[in-house]
Amino acid sequence: MGWELEGMSLDLEVELAGLRLRNPTVLASGILGSSYSLMKRVEEAGAGAITTKTITWEPREGYQNPVFVDLGFGYLNAMGLPNPGMAAFKTELKKAAENIRTPMIASIGGGDEGEFMKVAEHALEAGCDGLELNLSCPHVSGYGLEIGSDLQLTCRIIGAVRSVSSKPVFAKISIHQARPDVVSRYLGSGADGITAINTIRAAAISPESMTPILSNIFGGLSGPCIRPITVAVVYEIRREFPDAPIIGMGGVDGWRAALELILAGANAVGVGSAIARRDLDIFGEIIEGLRRFLTGKDFKSIKELVGYAQRL
Ligand SMILES: Cc1cc2nc3c(=O)[nH]c(=O)nc-3n(C[C@H](O)[C@H](O)[C@H](O)COP(=O)(O)O)c2cc1C
Repeated sequence: MGWELEGMSLDLEVELAGLRLRNPTVLASGILGSSYSLMKRVEEAGAGAITTKTITWEPREGYQNPVFVDLGFGYLNAMGLPNPGMAAFKTELKKAAENIRTPMIASIGGGDEGEFMKVAEHALEAGCDGLELNLSCPHVSGYGLEIGSDLQLTCRIIGAVRSVSSKPVFAKISIHQARPDVVSRYLGSGADGITAINTIRAAAISPESMTPILSNIFGGLSGPCIRPITVAVVYEIRREFPDAPIIGMGGVDGWRAALELILAGANAVGVGSAIARRDLDIFGEIIEGLRRFLTGKDFKSIKELVGYAQRL
């Protein structure tokens, strides 16, 4: 999105593995990306790209409440990947593809290569612009991180999805996969880019009830408390893989945090749990903040800032 200020054109547009985003903000998977009407609201709020809730082949009910808790310094969730399954989700994806101009990335979940491939094929058929493989959800048995901790299997999954996709494929990783040797294997197996990071496996116990707060006991930690971890992961991936498209996420709660991830090396920045506190206004706040920053510092384009903190 070009923006004129006293004759100077400010460019917030970014390119991400062939996708053109009007600005670097991305709706993170799992938050409001479950129906056409919600995705439309996210587009109207200004997001540069929209990631769907993780879609599995069969419907999943998810866990019993409590599934989400605000800890004050961050959030803990164990939703259990609830989603209506690909057949029902496809109707929403098609509507979104027809009516939404913002790039839509389908988050794919699965227990093996076959499921990942099937869901990916249907997401592409529905008109999605990219795929994100959830290899990192930390609290669902047989999915996410359980798959992601088997390097051979993960590489086979990435290769299998790559073979059926003409659209960019992002591997979504956890902190445990954020090692150069692992990322290198993912990129070598056909991932076009990396989304980093998913929530971090965590738990909380109530002193009052003397029991775990989440029904599933274990969940994933998100929000500002994980941001320094995200910054380190993004910084290191950018340093080791100068050309890899990176969507950085984890703890973005405003424009300064978004900028921090861009300076570390993210091409685009995901926003997840902050929406619980800030609602969708957070997209406008980040976009305006980045514009003001570019103007104040005499930069013309957001692209100039990607990995800027790494220059010597
Ligand atoms: C309530 C909730 C649901 C989530 N669901 C998914 C999901 O379905 N798939 C996925 O890949 N990540 C999921 N995530 C992880 C987010 O996409 C993101 O990686 C993580 O929350 C860190 O970003 P944040 O600190 O901005 O929330 C979920 C996070 C939250 C808080």
